[in-house]
Amino acid sequence: MSFLANSLSNIKPSPTIAISMKAAELKASGKDIISLGMGEPDFDTPENIKDAAIAAIKKGDTKYTAVDGTAALKKAIIEKFKRENSLEYKASEIVVSGGAKQVIYNSLVASLNPLDEVIIPAPYWVSYPDMVLLAGGKPVIVDSSEKNNFKITPRSLEEKITPKTKWLILNSPSNPTGSCYNEKDLAALAEVLLRHPQVHIMTDDIYEHLIFDGLKFSTIAAIEPKLKSRTLIINGVSKAYSMTGWRIGYGAGDEKLIKAMSMIQSQSTSSPCSISQAASVEALIGTQSYIKPNAEIFQKRRDLVAGMLNAIDGISCNIPNGAFYVFPSCSGLNGKKTPAGKVIENDSDFATYLLEEALVAVVPGIAFGAPGFFRISYTASEEFLKNAMQRIADACAKLN
Ligand SMILES: Cc1ncc(COP(=O)(O)O)c(C=O)c1O
Repeated sequence: MSFLANSLSNIKPSPTIAISMKAAELKASGKDIISLGMGEPDFDTPENIKDAAIAAIKKGDTKYTAVDGTAALKKAIIEKFKRENSLEYKASEIVVSGGAKQVIYNSLVASLNPLDEVIIPAPYWVSYPDMVLLAGGKPVIVDSSEKNNFKITPRSLEEKITPKTKWLILNSPSNPTGSCYNEKDLAALAEVLLRHPQVHIMTDDIYEHLIFDGLKFSTIAAIEPKLKSRTLIINGVSKAYSMTGWRIGYGAGDEKLIKAMSMIQSQSTSSPCSISQAASVEALIGTQSYIKPNAEIFQKRRDLVAGMLNAIDGISCNIPNGAFYVFPSCSGLNGKKTPAGKVIENDSDFATYLLEEALVAVVPGIAFGAPGFFRISYTASEEFLKNAMQRIADACAKLN
């Protein structure tokens, strides 16, 4: 009998982190590896935010804070929701945690009973199904199609709803596809959700500010106010403010749920880092002047990467409207032979081939519940990305 808990037998380490670690290993052994695996902006944290952290240290903000976040940060979050999403929240409806990831995990632990169902649209962020399993729930995957820009339809959603459905998880702009639900898409899903009052909505808005082509970000609680009381908004400072290492995320939703999540936090990790919280206040209420230019840089990189990928025989790439990922199809290369004589049978074979032949690390679609695709994270300079895409093109040209 294993010493480890049975609940671990269903879950696996995050495949995106696994790929990055394998790439780092090869790099350490002297190989010139280009890693396009990790989901974090390459920009440095803005100076005003760093200065706020230094000031907090000097001022002695170095102790435990309120478990669910400092009053100052909650105030800044409330202001953010008012300013950017036209949503009103009270301090008791907000919780701050060590990253959006912890907010999601706590909410699932706080709400799921054994085999409660959680609807997760595929392609999905790798952590959703495993977090549901860890919390004792049952992930129910609803597929989407590339033709529909990887968005689920009201009909496909309704088909998956049962009396045991507790949550629907929405993520827009999406990791891994970069696709975005607009107001009309959300209104159509809301119509279904209004018919099923047992279903709560967790909307992961972490890529809110990485949206392109003049598109306006929308979140379901603002589109359909009747759903606000059963919606938990997940957001954080990681992506928009280049603060992945600071570990601050937050949730906004029903007071009872927020209280339960805070209780779990109080018995597991306590308050998030006091210094990071002070820095996040500055992120949310200080200058927002770099947000738009950063999104514009990402949009240019998207165009470069998608353009070069679409020029490769056997690869086709949708043009996503947000986040910093593209999710091209590689199924056109299935059946081709590598120079070493190995037949590419699926996206995992293709990702392994790219790592070994092109020395480029990408994540196979199977990790996101979408075989036949792969994810590229374009969080690097144009020069770097051009080189990476050229390597992929050269490796593909060697297949026959
Ligand atoms: C969709 C999605 N949600 C949440 C997170 C986690 O964010 P945080 O760094 O705030 O924990 C990520 C990070 O990759 C993500 O892609």
